[in-house]
Amino acid sequence: MGRLTGKVALITGGAGGCGLAASELFAREGAKVAILDLPHSDGMAVAERINASGGSAYFIAADVSNADQVQDAVAQVQQHFGAITVLMNHAGTIHVGPFLETSENDWDRLMAINVKSMFLVTRAVLPGMIAAGGGSVICTSSISGVVGTPMEVLYCTTKGACHMFARAISVEFRERNIRSNAICPGFIGTAHGRRELDLLREHGTEISDSMLQDMQGRLCAPSEVASAALFLASDDSSFVNGAHLFVDNAYTAI
Ligand SMILES: NC(=O)c1ccc[n+]([C@@H]2O[C@H](COP(=O)([O-])OP(=O)(O)OC[C@H]3O[C@@H](n4cnc5c(N)ncnc54)[C@H](O)[C@@H]3O)[C@@H](O)[C@H]2O)c1
Repeated sequence: MGRLTGKVALITGGAGGCGLAASELFAREGAKVAILDLPHSDGMAVAERINASGGSAYFIAADVSNADQVQDAVAQVQQHFGAITVLMNHAGTIHVGPFLETSENDWDRLMAINVKSMFLVTRAVLPGMIAAGGGSVICTSSISGVVGTPMEVLYCTTKGACHMFARAISVEFRERNIRSNAICPGFIGTAHGRRELDLLREHGTEISDSMLQDMQGRLCAPSEVASAALFLASDDSSFVNGAHLFVDNAYTAI
């Protein structure tokens, strides 16, 4: 028996980075895993690989910031696997640049991908999750939900919103057996994490390797975020609700 046997997990952004690590880990732990990611992502190949190694995965191509696509995608997953009992709202992206050069389009785009997505996907999933008796929602926030970084006003704002989204859902839905928590990673060795460091350096926010070492020791591995998500997805965290789980090797404790 795996720690997620009997559960159906939907992971947005599940084809790359930490989402990929979570898709693979959740499948190994017995969950049926639905991977929602962009059409050009590796989602199909990832699902095929998981299925070939004895797991159960299903890929749906959709943009998390598009309401119609999200509605269709959630309906497809429910038809394929039944009610979703674990939702990992992980898809997200970055914007780095001077605040005074941030356009309204930049603002709307990042808010849509990082924040509106959580609203759209969670709103589509919760009715089925409640009808199934309850479940766990995991929202990927960041250290940027509580720590400001120059050139990241927009990104930090989106992550502050993810932080409170997870917490407010936990309060409204506790009586319906829904747990909702946020995961808040430090810098991770993924495409997103490396791009963020490169962009910060390009814009003059110096983050040298030794500074990174002082802040969090080393880069976080995607599997370390996935392991924390597994805890929140599983019944091991049955009384953990409305929490912010920092996966940052004490970055925010210093
Ligand atoms: N990498 C870091 O250093 C870091 C740190 C803290 C938090 N995070 C958060 O983790 C999440 C993703 O980071 P990662 O490092 O795993 O990134 P990643 O870029 O490696 O993977 C992100 C995945 O999301 C998918 N995606 C992006 N936009 C999408 C959209 N509109 N619709 C559907 N799928 C979409 C991508 O195709 C990709 O598969 C984000 O929410 C990010 O804010 C990352």
